Amino acid sequence: MSIKEKEIQEGLSRRDLIIGAGKAAAGAAILSLGALSGVKTAEAYEVASKFKYAKLDPQEVGQLAYEHYFKRWCASTVLTGLVEPLKKKVGGAWKDFPIDAYRWAHGGFAGWGALCGTLTGAGIVIGLVTNDTEIAEAMTNDLAFFYAYNELPKFTPSKIIKAEIKHMTIAGTPVCHISVGRWMRAEGVGFLTNERAERCARLAADIAMETAKMLNAWVDGKYKPKHQPLYNVVANGITSQNNCRDCHGQYVPTPNETYETLEK
Ligand code: HEC
Repeated sequence: MSIKEKEIQEGLSRRDLIIGAGKAAAGAAILSLGALSGVKTAEAYEVASKFKYAKLDPQEVGQLAYEHYFKRWCASTVLTGLVEPLKKKVGGAWKDFPIDAYRWAHGGFAGWGALCGTLTGAGIVIGLVTNDTEIAEAMTNDLAFFYAYNELPKFTPSKIIKAEIKHMTIAGTPVCHISVGRWMRAEGVGFLTNERAERCARLAADIAMETAKMLNAWVDGKYKPKHQPLYNVVANGITSQNNCRDCHGQYVPTPNETYETLEK
C-alpha cells in the first residue's frame, strides 16, 4: 500500500471512529438536514419522469463510454454508454435524449476542474430513472465513494484507441483537477496528451459500468445504499471530501460548528 493510500484509509477510519462515537449526534444531524439547507422538511419526494430503466450489460455500457470519449468527453460519453442501449431496449423518452447537450460538463464544468464530468453524466441518468430524490442521493453518494477510493482506471479495452497507460491512482476525491492531476503525476504526462485522454476514457467506462451495476440492482429491488448520506457534511461540518490535507497541509482549519439551524 502506498503512503497516500494508507493516509486515505487511516483518515477514513479516524472519521469512522468520530462518526461512531457521535453516532446519536450524527443521526440527529441527518434527520434535521432540512434545517441545514434552510428547508423545513428534507423528506425525499418522488420525481415524475418518463425515462424508464431496463437492465443493461455493464460491459457494453463501458465499451461505448470508452469509445465515445475522444469526441464527446467525460460527461457526454458516460451518457452515451447508458443512454444508447436504453434507446434500443426501452425507447420512449430516451429516443429524443440530447446526449451532447451535457458536453459542457467535461473537465469538471467546461474545464474548470470541479466535479469530474463522468459523475455529472452518471448522475443525470440516475436522477432521471430512479424517480425518487432519496434513492438518487444515495446512489450518487455511493458513486462518489466508488470514484474516490478505488484505484482507477480499471477498465482495460480489448482494443486500445489512443495510448498504452501504466498507472491506476486513488483520487481520494471526486474533484476533476485533483483526480486527473494525481494520475498525471504518477504517469508523468501532461494534460493535453493521448495518455491522459486514454485514462479519462477508461475512467469514464468504469463510472458508466458502476452506474449500470447499481441501476441493475435497483431495478431488481436489490439496491442497498453502501454509504451514509451526507457523510462528509456530517463528519467535517462543511461540504467536503476527506482530503483536507491536499490543500491545507497539516494545518486543517476547524469549522465553527455552531449549527444554529440544527435541531439538537
Ligand atoms: C481543494 C482544496 C481544499 C480542500 C481539499 C479542503 N479545503 Fe478547506 N479551504 C480551502 C480554501 C482555499 C479555503 C479558504 C481559505 C482562505 O481563503 O483563507 C478553505 C477554507 C476552509 C475553512 C474555512 C476557513 C477557516 O479557517 O475556518 C474550513 C473550516 C475548511 N476549509 C476546512 C476544511 C476541511 C475540514 C477539509 C477536509 C474535509 C477541507 N477544508 C478541505 C481549500 C480546501
